[in-house]
Amino acid sequence: MSYTLKDIAREAGVSITTVSLVLNNKQCRISPETRKKVLAIAKKYNYNPNSSARALVTKKTYTLGLILPDISNPFFSELAKGIENEAQEHNYSVIFCNSNQNPQKDINNLCLLIGKQVDGLIITTSLSDSDSEYIRQFNRIVYESKISAVAVDRQIPQHNYDSVSIDHLEGGFLAAKHLLELGHKKIGCITGPLDSATARERYNGYVNALEMFGVKADPNLVYPGNFQLDSGVEGAEYLVSQGVSAIFACNDMMAFGAYRQVQAMGKIVGKDISIIGYDDIPLCELLEYPLTTIHQPISKMGRNACRLIIELIKEPQHKRQNIKFLPSLVVRKTTSKYEDS
Ligand code: RIB
Repeated sequence: MSYTLKDIAREAGVSITTVSLVLNNKQCRISPETRKKVLAIAKKYNYNPNSSARALVTKKTYTLGLILPDISNPFFSELAKGIENEAQEHNYSVIFCNSNQNPQKDINNLCLLIGKQVDGLIITTSLSDSDSEYIRQFNRIVYESKISAVAVDRQIPQHNYDSVSIDHLEGGFLAAKHLLELGHKKIGCITGPLDSATARERYNGYVNALEMFGVKADPNLVYPGNFQLDSGVEGAEYLVSQGVSAIFACNDMMAFGAYRQVQAMGKIVGKDISIIGYDDIPLCELLEYPLTTIHQPISKMGRNACRLIIELIKEPQHKRQNIKFLPSLVVRKTTSKYEDS
């Protein structure tokens, strides 16, 4: 009788994924005891890991793994839709995992998808620059597993993966320049998490625009947000109390929070306080005063990331590609000329 991965998994009391990872010597997070037990059972049954398991690994599954940081944010569902639409045109399916902005979950999801024998990975990471041990583990596992990987939207720290992203320095500059051109000088900024490069670049673009217009950047007009709606609410409450006439929220979810808080404070959005967001997710149009924002070509980013990973799967040694798109300003109803009240 030939024993299968399933038989070994059953006797070892682990998943088939774990058995596959052990038999393929993948450096995922599996304890030495489990590794030893699985190998002992495989040996007992004369299971030949080299032929059967490697057949599983080398056989293409026409499946891509997608790791996202926060599926509650419509930005990422838009991104996933672009990726999957492109994947289907190339007869690939997509398995996606959500890491909830948790670096450990990024690593767990990475191991899970490698165990599922996906042919390649598209990753918007939850790793931030301060997660040095997680970054090391993540990059080590990708290296050891030899799996093709593309970073989309956010670069993965400490390694230059093929990537598709946006020029966020330009995006932050466009947002602040728009408000400055409307005559605003006291412009607050609700930043994203500044231990991630995408958030820092947007903030730096805001500072560059202020300096170009001769407005001194005031740290008291900067609120450290986290890309979540609540930090937009809290940021707006603080910034309005500082006397700003305009707010740049570094993503739309925080802009929605700021919008709600400005109204709750009895002020008129787009008249008393101008608000500009960043992403241009579909919800922007549905607000009573549709949101002025910075447009990220989300679906186009997703499609290009998918094309890039499929190219990389076919030609792993291909020349590194870092594709960068430009954002654009979309003026709607939440920004207007500064009026001295
Ligand atoms: O809204 C979520 C943010 O995180 C977006 O701006 C996107 O760029 C991602 O990095």
